[in-house]
Amino acid sequence: MTTTQIKGGTVVTAADRFAADLYIRDGVVIGLGQDLNLHADTVIDATGCLLLPGGVDPHVHLDFPSLSTTTADDSNSGTAAAAQGGTTTIINFAMQQYGEPLPAALQRSVDQAEGQAVIDYGFHVVVRDLGADRIRGIDEIVESGASSIKLFMAYPGELMVDDGTLLIAMERMAAAGGLTMVHAENGSAIDVLARRALAQGHTSPQWHGRTRPTLLEAEAVHRATVLAELVGSPTYFVHISCAEAAAEVAQAKAKGLPIFAETCPHYLTLDNSVYDGDSFEVAKYVMTPPLREPHHQDRLWHSIRRADLDVISTDHCPFCMVGQKDAGRDNFLDIPNGVGGVEHRLLLLFDRGVRAGRISLERLVAITSTNPAKLFGLHPRKGSLMVGADADVVVLDPTGRTRLSVTSSPSRVDYSIYEGWTVGGAIRYVLSRGKVVVDNGVVGDHRGHGRFVARGATATPN
Ligand code: URP
Ligand code: ZN
Ligand code: ZN
Ligand code: ZN
Repeated sequence: MTTTQIKGGTVVTAADRFAADLYIRDGVVIGLGQDLNLHADTVIDATGCLLLPGGVDPHVHLDFPSLSTTTADDSNSGTAAAAQGGTTTIINFAMQQYGEPLPAALQRSVDQAEGQAVIDYGFHVVVRDLGADRIRGIDEIVESGASSIKLFMAYPGELMVDDGTLLIAMERMAAAGGLTMVHAENGSAIDVLARRALAQGHTSPQWHGRTRPTLLEAEAVHRATVLAELVGSPTYFVHISCAEAAAEVAQAKAKGLPIFAETCPHYLTLDNSVYDGDSFEVAKYVMTPPLREPHHQDRLWHSIRRADLDVISTDHCPFCMVGQKDAGRDNFLDIPNGVGGVEHRLLLLFDRGVRAGRISLERLVAITSTNPAKLFGLHPRKGSLMVGADADVVVLDPTGRTRLSVTSSPSRVDYSIYEGWTVGGAIRYVLSRGKVVVDNGVVGDHRGHGRFVARGATATPN
């Protein structure tokens, strides 16, 4: 039996904050308060620091295939990076091969991650096709603890499903008590724009952004909310990037529909001016949806404050410039889409959100931990610091400063879109089920500490 006390900090929840010591026994929170007089073998001094529930990042691609390559991070390096940034649970993707039963896809990913992760993890199953004999697989994966699926309305020929498949999947998932995630962009229309650009000789990465307009994101959000309404499906839109799409989510919520959505730090902190010029360096910013004009950021922050956006995930999907992104030097469609950043979510949002006066500390906890834990069936084990919860804790020093750089990250990608940025706040310690996995800002070698977490039914955040 091991016991730990985290002493002298201020606990922050999604609702409020209070001075309290935190007591941990065998990986679980057993006491929270002042002058509790419980015994502890180890004492961590958190004087002047904030104690936050460990982050839950529900949108992370590790060991993820794209075009002819695979993400630079696997379950070990990606979860080490996540831990360094204060995330103690990630949800990765298990990719269904065409024709494959969904439980087989899940099992393959579970086997591949076994013994690798530093922090706890789960999987969403990416559904690519749903023949009549495969639909029942949705019930089976939910029973196995993967209570969410993801479908793509983009990437024709690779991942895109038609509206009928989306409807059937939503209907079955709703009945099973799980959550359907949707990548909403009109893939067929984007395909026309992209091929037309290429035919006109526009092969450079700048054209990735120019051929994925905001209207085609908003249209897809609208279409999927109609399908979700028809079958009463709790539905979660990933990576909302623009005002028009955020407005569609707001409208659906105003109707009382169980529609939820996330955005990502890059849409809040970067804009499409990075696509100016004709250097191939622009490929660093080739992610989907692309970065938008600066004015979209205000609308996204507004939606976060109003709870029209429920979660901020990273969509960590790293590909190296050398040997991966450079496959698209002559054709922007050959650049694998995605950027890293799983390690920077908390401090970027603490700095640009809380310190900049855009959101409260409590809202920060809600959107990075409590809300994703509830939506993805992890609460109350994850997402709140309370008695009986897993002792996943971040000790954040609000007076510290941190320089973001790929060189100090366990991620294996070869660049960062935040390279050299300095942010207010520093992560001193991160505990995963009571174990210190980040000590004075440095992540140790804890391969295999992380476990697969079986998730339950989706619950609505406050
Ligand atoms: O560019 C991105 N986001 N790559 C990952 C795949 C996806 O669309 O989420
Ligand atoms: Zn996506
Ligand atoms: Zn609409
Ligand atoms: Zn993604």
